[in-house]
Amino acid sequence: MWKNRVGRLVSGIGGYPDPLPGTRRIPTEGMRVDLFEYQGKQFFGTFGIPVSPGEPVTTVEEAVAAAERLATYPVVVKAQVHVGGRGKAGGVKLAENIDEVREHASNILGLDIKGHIVNDVWIEVASDIAEEYYASFTLDRSAKKHLGMLSAEGGVEIETVAENNPDAIAKIWVDPVDGLTEEAARDWVAAANLNPEANEGAVEILTKLYTAYVDGDADLVEINPLILKPTGEVHALDAKVTVDDNADYRHDWDAYEVTQVRDEREQAAHEAGLQYVGLEGSVGIIANGAGLAMSTLDVVNQVGGSAANFLDVGGGADAEKFVNALTIIDNDPRVKSIFINIFGGITRGEEVANGIVAALGQIDISAPIVIRLDGTNADQGRAILEPHLSDKLQMAPTMLDAARKAVELAN
Ligand SMILES: Nc1ncnc2c1ncn2[C@@H]1O[C@H](COP(=O)(O)OP(=O)(O)OP(=O)(O)O)[C@@H](O)[C@H]1O
Ligand SMILES: [Mg+2]
Repeated sequence: MWKNRVGRLVSGIGGYPDPLPGTRRIPTEGMRVDLFEYQGKQFFGTFGIPVSPGEPVTTVEEAVAAAERLATYPVVVKAQVHVGGRGKAGGVKLAENIDEVREHASNILGLDIKGHIVNDVWIEVASDIAEEYYASFTLDRSAKKHLGMLSAEGGVEIETVAENNPDAIAKIWVDPVDGLTEEAARDWVAAANLNPEANEGAVEILTKLYTAYVDGDADLVEINPLILKPTGEVHALDAKVTVDDNADYRHDWDAYEVTQVRDEREQAAHEAGLQYVGLEGSVGIIANGAGLAMSTLDVVNQVGGSAANFLDVGGGADAEKFVNALTIIDNDPRVKSIFINIFGGITRGEEVANGIVAALGQIDISAPIVIRLDGTNADQGRAILEPHLSDKLQMAPTMLDAARKAVELAN
């Protein structure tokens, strides 16, 4: 259960699979922003990585017009969704002529791929493919290094390769201070046993991919398939890119923001600047600090309940933060009770208590609230809360007691 929750926190925000077991991430500051394939290709293009020419469209007529402008056949009609396995779901189709473009575009637009409805389609020039490979960079937190993965077995899900034939993945750990040297890139490519004809082009693309990953402030860059053409060129046929929006001040990412498909609750929380992840349980969670919020989820599970969300209000104690957090949680129909878990630190207990009381004076919350307040100046904080306690606002002395009470109320 807890593993699943962590899995959800780790990889579920944009619906992308975790790139590799052991490279998990928890939401800390900002949110990850998942790019559509075509945006990923534009992103790659700015770093000199060869991609296919194409056009993004949203209607069948635009698809036809785009194919006419590309003026070469076949073209590929590709669903743009933040989820893998599009091909298998009928979301990637080759079109030999304008009629087939029309047919495929009308079938793919509106298609439901694992719960993601296709609103955008990318029309691109088809490539001749000699071989399909896999390449990616992501962060290996436990190694404190960037992890590059390269495999001659591309075009299939890398999780499957990792499971069935792990030796087919050549890995490289890159120290962020040193960067990826050409020599290291060469050894890495040699270890992957690609067609020797692809080696030169692969070294070049992977070097650029590393630069795109670092300078582009990405958390993940993945090319699957990276192809070798019969003519010997190496080329990115797909692009999966996740950027870290902590770095958005350094970039112009507005276009990516527009195409984010977030859970309604996550969208509202994101706009309010809260660290929030929607879950499926019935106890709304507010805690100060990501670590405490994670432990709170854990304890709620331990006593037989399940959390409706992860929410870290962070430091500070202004009423506005609690107003936003409580409103988003209370608007969630799953929520039957709310557990506020505060450990006073630099922000002292009485400041937080004042913030909560002020917030509750401004809004009407329908779910019952259980507060646990501990840490610096907890006594003063509890004294401030005391006169406001009722059936709808209860306090419990420990985290475990509070969790039990919140779960009981939720049931
Ligand atoms: N431009 C293209 N020209 C020729 N074949 C293509 C082109 N784009 C995709 N294909 C073929 O379709 C397959 C699937 O494409 P792609 O990797 O983009 O989607 P997917 O793997 O099904 O979805 P996802 O990568 O989201 O899991 C590729 O492995 C390749 O064989
Ligand atoms: Mg792919």
